[in-house]
Amino acid sequence: MMPADGPSLHGDAHSVQNHLMSLPSVTAALVADHSGADEVLERRPLALSDLGTGDVTIEVTWSSVNYKDALASRKSGKVARISPLVPGIDLAGVVVDPGSSDLQAGQGVLVHGYDLGVAHHGGFSEHARVPAEWVVPLPADLTDRQAMILGTAGFTAAMSVLALEEHGLRPGDGPVLVTGATGGVGSVAVSILAARGHEVTASTGKSEATDWLTSLGAADVIDRDAVSGSSRPLEKEVWAGAVDCVGGETLAHVVASLRYGAAVAASGNTGGTAVATSVFPFILRGVSLLGIDSVRCPIDRRKEVWRRMATDLRPPRLDELATDEVPLDGVPAALERILSGGAQGRTLVRIG
Ligand SMILES: NC(=O)c1ccc[n+]([C@@H]2O[C@H](COP(=O)([O-])OP(=O)(O)OC[C@H]3O[C@@H](n4cnc5c(N)ncnc54)[C@H](OP(=O)(O)O)[C@@H]3O)[C@@H](O)[C@H]2O)c1
Repeated sequence: MMPADGPSLHGDAHSVQNHLMSLPSVTAALVADHSGADEVLERRPLALSDLGTGDVTIEVTWSSVNYKDALASRKSGKVARISPLVPGIDLAGVVVDPGSSDLQAGQGVLVHGYDLGVAHHGGFSEHARVPAEWVVPLPADLTDRQAMILGTAGFTAAMSVLALEEHGLRPGDGPVLVTGATGGVGSVAVSILAARGHEVTASTGKSEATDWLTSLGAADVIDRDAVSGSSRPLEKEVWAGAVDCVGGETLAHVVASLRYGAAVAASGNTGGTAVATSVFPFILRGVSLLGIDSVRCPIDRRKEVWRRMATDLRPPRLDELATDEVPLDGVPAALERILSGGAQGRTLVRIG
């Protein structure tokens, strides 16, 4: 039977029964262990009973690589709150045991945020157990793989675009800047904004990615140095809006160069955490700094944003945003790449 709130991946009675019967006692996971002197990140068998608290057991089919996963996998990242930890801040898969929740065995679902992959075992595992209130039914028209092409980064990009539009940004208002444009948040933001008719300027440190960013819909591609470095309290008014996942000097520069009444949606800190700005852009130009948080975003809003990511916020060439696909064993190298700022687009983790 097809669940009312989302498609079933393996929904017929026979396969649902197979899933329940095939629930193993041990699963395979990538484990970050910071308890000793050495930092360990390795594939280990994990008892299902050690997956953590929660009603719902999920057979994970896909996860993805996000910047936060790289931080959670290292002691110095100061993000992991348990050790050992299975990182992976997002996952998609199929419910194999719904516990006492309203979900159904065989139902396609996705989970991201909350404590997942930080203080609760995450997506880099063949199985996960999570509280029912964290679970988002897989929207119709989005496969489990496509959900993880978007993943946490795509969700954050969609939240950023919605925040700007809810603030009043309309197509035709002028150039909208996306910083860190080749990264996960940035590339999905470029794609969604362009598809909705906005004129996108992509800023990047990777000049070799200019053609790719143009193919995603960027009208202009500029060097990241043009929007960072120390800025005056007020720069020339350029941007009708901005999506920034870089923070630091870049965010300070963006705030100083927003047009009158415009806003920047700020979500990240790959370029630094300290933002040196002044009150002048706020009190003389009425600009707004919109904070974007995907982790504690309330579940109803979360489900709504995912429904829209499958429909009117859907990037037109969604499958092309996935630039790499790795098995569990390929995750450590992918984490190194994203931490060094060398990743382009979204890296999928093939689990099931
Ligand atoms: N608030 C939230 O809920 C939320 C959710 C998801 C992500 N985030 C944050 O958003 C940020 C991006 O995440 P992501 O997964 O998209 O990471 P990502 O794929 O690594 O993208 C980040 C991009 O930032 C640029 N960059 C890297 N180092 C930089 C530096 N030193 N100075 C300037 N630009 C630099 C690079 O793009 P170019 O080479 O194109 O310049 C890089 O591709 C991270 O800080 C992450 O923690 C926050």
